[in-house]
Amino acid sequence: MQKQALIYTGKAKSVYETDNPDYLILHFRNDASAFNGEKIAKLDRKGRVNNRFNSFIMSKLADAGIETHFERELSDDEVLVKRLKMIPVECVVRNYAAGGIAKRLGLAEGLPLMPPTFELFYKDDKLGDPMLAPSTAIALGYATADELEQMSVLTHKVNDVLSQIFDEAGLMLVDFKLEFGLFHGRVVLGDEFSPDGCRLWDKETKKKLDKDRFRQGLGDVVEGYEEVARRIGVPLD
Ligand code: C5P
Repeated sequence: MQKQALIYTGKAKSVYETDNPDYLILHFRNDASAFNGEKIAKLDRKGRVNNRFNSFIMSKLADAGIETHFERELSDDEVLVKRLKMIPVECVVRNYAAGGIAKRLGLAEGLPLMPPTFELFYKDDKLGDPMLAPSTAIALGYATADELEQMSVLTHKVNDVLSQIFDEAGLMLVDFKLEFGLFHGRVVLGDEFSPDGCRLWDKETKKKLDKDRFRQGLGDVVEGYEEVARRIGVPLD
């Protein structure tokens, strides 16, 4: 597969066309960003650990019968993926209160949420990714009712599969964000799964091992990601 024109530069990934219109190449860069791009930094090894992490998780999800855009790793920091028509809606599942929901509803961080919550956000940097009711997403044509239903079912299934993997490694999957797109009409998991888009805490110490280390200036950001990777068996070398 030949890498061709750069078509999109995100906050942490760049997207390239290939010589096959059905496939793209994602490049995981060493860039970190938070608060809608207000805080940025370059972090050594981040692109590589996120690429390895994402490949490992996407493969586990495929094994569990969840269709994803992941095809294969191409290098330390590049992956070949199916080209999806992205749905501009972020799906967030929360098993424990933290971040946005803790602030919005005045909840103690770590409060268990049972059953897990499912929230939608409109993907728009200029608007700061506002929360969205399902009926609004449908009325505005961002997704159909059927697509939203599939996204909800798939996100909960991802939560079941990954909560178990992290639990067995002594980690709590606090929350995470997924993005979906359409591939020949099917709803398929896209984007990435890495510590940039989820919260992971050590079960015993509650140590944060995800992007909150960057957001909150706790230091050792990539070291936190690498610790999680090692604990769940992601090959890093
Ligand atoms: O900020 P909030 O608490 O709503 O985030 C919920 C989860 O979704 C967190 O794991 C966060 O890292 C992730 N997220 C993301 N990209 C966004 C918004 C949230 O990866 N644009």
